[in-house]
Amino acid sequence: MSYLPSGNRYTSMIYNYCGKSGLKLPAISLGLWHNFGDVDNFDISRQILLKAFDAGITHFDLANNYGPPPGSAEKNFGIILKNDLKNYRDELIISTKAGYQMWDGPYGEWGSRKYLIASLDQSLKRMGIDYVDIFYSHRPDPDTPLEETMGALDHAVRQGKALYAGISNYNPEQTKKAARILRALGTPCLIHQPKYSMFVRQAEDKLFDVLDDEGIGSIAFSPLAQGLLTDKYLDGIPEGSRAAKPHGFLRKEEVTTDKIERIRKLNDIALKRNQSLAQMAIAWILRDRRVTSVLVGVSSVDQLNDNLKSLDNIKFETKELKSIDAVLE
Ligand SMILES: NC(=O)c1ccc[n+]([C@@H]2O[C@H](COP(=O)([O-])OP(=O)(O)OC[C@H]3O[C@@H](n4cnc5c(N)ncnc54)[C@H](OP(=O)(O)O)[C@@H]3O)[C@@H](O)[C@H]2O)c1
Repeated sequence: MSYLPSGNRYTSMIYNYCGKSGLKLPAISLGLWHNFGDVDNFDISRQILLKAFDAGITHFDLANNYGPPPGSAEKNFGIILKNDLKNYRDELIISTKAGYQMWDGPYGEWGSRKYLIASLDQSLKRMGIDYVDIFYSHRPDPDTPLEETMGALDHAVRQGKALYAGISNYNPEQTKKAARILRALGTPCLIHQPKYSMFVRQAEDKLFDVLDDEGIGSIAFSPLAQGLLTDKYLDGIPEGSRAAKPHGFLRKEEVTTDKIERIRKLNDIALKRNQSLAQMAIAWILRDRRVTSVLVGVSSVDQLNDNLKSLDNIKFETKELKSIDAVLE
């Protein structure tokens, strides 16, 4: 059936400026790491994507290796874009990344200019687009000069194949250096994509301060700790969940008794706020003004709807924050 977007799609989403740039991103963005590969149900992937657009989610985050198999998320996204969203390209922020293993041989991963430029060309082809909005170095490469990796991002922007440059998984020192190099090249670093959730708070130790000083925005990935920060694992590992799937990155061993105990307590705090735990986990990330967007992944439209409701209450009383900290200690 042909798709017509909701006329109300820009009425309920919050949009935040990404660092000191002129680009606004939705407070909730959608990631396609899981649930959009060839192993997944295409109709459900399509429904999720279109529901997201209807709800004002303008930003879709991909990477060369998302699938499985690697590349299939970009390919499937390209099909949906072509069939349903082609008239709305100027309303979309599409990002992709290169850094992890993508093809055989010495040029198929990490941070060389050779790899990054070739990978971006492949991504554009798979998605059927002329440019991405954000091109990321997916991870720092200890063996390639940072000048080369940042030079490749700058080159992609100058070629018109990307509008902005971003970095992911860089530590505070690497971030400062990358920002300096990019600024000197005339392509300021737009955004950093760190892992950040109630369970993974490392970014609070220096990284967010560096981003603030440098005027770089941030988008938090795995905000629900891959589904742990929801009520889904309270009574064991449900069939079809990420921890149960053979290709899911959440391993069964990560669903520990200690974590479940904390999740139960967090769930009680969320219920007192009239939120689901997923909603509170997303709202908790947005409490920090240095976070531009929360990058969620969902396996159903119901999950997306649940997560979108987090925006109804993103304020926390000091007492609530203290009780969350006490559970996480
Ligand atoms: N830069 C990087 O290195 C990097 C690394 C990882 C991810 N990312 C990006 O971040 C995005 C999000 O990561 P993520 O998928 O790990 O995020 P996440 O939001 O922490 O986890 C998503 C999973 O949580 C479960 N879930 C989501 N909403 C739910 C709800 N309301 N109720 C119950 N369960 C819910 C679903 O699991 P089930 O499948 O079990 O239903 C879903 O697949 C990725 O798609 C990718 O774009 C980037």
